[in-house]
Amino acid sequence: MKQEHKLFKGKTLAILTGGGDTSALNSSIESIRNRASMLGYKVYGIRQGWKGLLGDGDILDLTSQPYDGWYGGTALRSSRTNPFPSEKNPESRVPQVLKNLKRYRIDVLVSIGGDDTNGAAKRLYETEGIQVIGFPKTIDNDLRTRTMHHYQGKEIESVLCPGFPSAANAIMEMTARLKTTAESHSRIMVLEVMGRDAGWLTGAASFGGAQLALVPEVEMTRERKEFFFEVVKETYLNSKKKSLIIPVSEGVKWFDEKTGKLDVVYASSELDEYGHPRFGGISGIIASEIAQKLKIDARSQISGYYPRAGKCSEYDRRLTMTLADKVVDLLLREHFGQMPVIRKITPLVGLEEFNTTSIDMGDVGNKPLPGEYFDLNTYRFNDSYMNFLSNILVKPTFPEFEYDFPVVVPD
Ligand code: F6P
Repeated sequence: MKQEHKLFKGKTLAILTGGGDTSALNSSIESIRNRASMLGYKVYGIRQGWKGLLGDGDILDLTSQPYDGWYGGTALRSSRTNPFPSEKNPESRVPQVLKNLKRYRIDVLVSIGGDDTNGAAKRLYETEGIQVIGFPKTIDNDLRTRTMHHYQGKEIESVLCPGFPSAANAIMEMTARLKTTAESHSRIMVLEVMGRDAGWLTGAASFGGAQLALVPEVEMTRERKEFFFEVVKETYLNSKKKSLIIPVSEGVKWFDEKTGKLDVVYASSELDEYGHPRFGGISGIIASEIAQKLKIDARSQISGYYPRAGKCSEYDRRLTMTLADKVVDLLLREHFGQMPVIRKITPLVGLEEFNTTSIDMGDVGNKPLPGEYFDLNTYRFNDSYMNFLSNILVKPTFPEFEYDFPVVVPD
């Protein structure tokens, strides 16, 4: 009779998802669940992030349930609940979390999240001895995963987070689609892209055919704005079809002539439990300034939640499985407080466990775009970043319609 190697029989591992969703969350949950149950763990899902560990708890049994990892978002739901005291919620809810971890007999907690969710998990590990493993996720791609990118003999410290490949694919495709309407109206389309304080996702628009871009890493002071408008005018006039798509990151700091201040445009100044306001609206301001100053028809388009929505991409699917393989290693070695990451950026075929390592899961947030990836003098992403993205994305297949019809002159 075949002997079952159920190393962790009798133990329970629980998974939670916190922060903004991505198309790769269900894939991460499924991949971790499959591997943990193979090791013998009973696998629970905690609903709505840390919120599911408050009060009486909100916990589901995932152990042998059917699961669709291709389906975007998170079946566990998500929240921005912070168990530690914050300005918004000064009372600590850590005792409730600890009580529920005990009540539900949870031995290991896997927190799928960004800096905030994993930062809280790391604090529970350090201060309370809770056995946690972190798992990265964000469409913003701004976690310090220390993924190396080898480009033309140089090593660039880059980033690769599950959720980013699917989101980048959506932004690339959206840009390629917007091109035809921009061309039809000889317009400039200012495409606003999420990403908080980093321009990683905005670069995917350039991979989809946008020429210029604005990223949060470059502050748009009065002088920089003047120069930017000159570049926009020249690029527009030189464009074959008299149109442009300009992707701008939601977190761009823009000089406001009326107030004399340089700031991000906020959709809401209300802070979440981790102290973050909501960004949004910069594209409308830039489009109207372009129209006013350059007398060129300009429109804004907010891509908003679109890159977070829909099916998991193939790259993300494989990425989450590979990182989940590393979770097995961390569980076996009892390396808690760690997060699996990819060592070196590679096309899909190179996503294998030998290409993973683990890093300290606390304090990994806010990795801006490396200077090598963006040229602040031309407002363009460099070839090095296009090379990085070419590992993750496949260019849209429809070819450019190049036309040059002869003009009819009456006799
Ligand atoms: O961090 C992911 C993200 O999508 C950011 O790009 C964006 O600023 C934010 O979340 C939006 O959050 P919410 O879902 O709370 O509106």
